[in-house]
Amino acid sequence: MGNYCYKTESQPLIPYRYTWTGLLSPTEIRQITPLYASAFKWPTARSSQYFSRCTTYVTGVLEWLIVYDQKKVVAFLSLHEHPDGILLANVVTIPSYRGRGIATEMLRKTRDRVHGERLYLQVLAEQPILVDFYSRRGFRLLPTLTSSGRYQMVQE
Ligand SMILES: CC(C)(COP(=O)(O)OP(=O)(O)OC[C@H]1O[C@@H](n2cnc3c(N)ncnc32)[C@H](O)[C@@H]1OP(=O)(O)O)[C@@H](O)C(=O)NCCC(=O)NCCS
Repeated sequence: MGNYCYKTESQPLIPYRYTWTGLLSPTEIRQITPLYASAFKWPTARSSQYFSRCTTYVTGVLEWLIVYDQKKVVAFLSLHEHPDGILLANVVTIPSYRGRGIATEMLRKTRDRVHGERLYLQVLAEQPILVDFYSRRGFRLLPTLTSSGRYQMVQE
């Protein structure tokens, strides 16, 4: 029975906690920095630099959604200003928690959070699997790539 917390992998007895925050705490930054570096294959130093700025006000970052399994951060995403709505970015679930519907639930909670605003996101051109993942969750691919070679997707 391994972990007493779980009935099955997809039905935690103690549910994951989804929390919104405008500013990451130092503890959250300490946990998120290496997770981010590993998910996006950034050097940890660059990731630390990025997140150290998140303790203070960062132009364009509106909110973070952090998912906890008890005290452990297991997933997160961020919302940013966008000229035509809100940009969704930094969507990560840590590898051992993938496939449990956590990112799907984060997208659902984001939808509720933005009160009908258009949601945009960008996906690297070499990751068509992600385009499929977001298409199945109501996002539509826009016809032109961004200047940095990313697909842009929108959910209206
Ligand atoms: C993309 C990502 C956020 C999905 O998170 P998740 O919590 O596993 O998502 P869900 O459980 O809601 O859905 C999992 C999807 O991956 C597939 N999947 C199932 N088991 C999986 C597993 N063990 N590992 C990875 N993917 C799995 C499922 O097929 C499902 O897609 P489908 O339902 O459309 O078929 C996660 O894989 C990740 O962090 N990837 C690395 C960072 C990244 O590329 N982020 C996107 C930036 S735009």
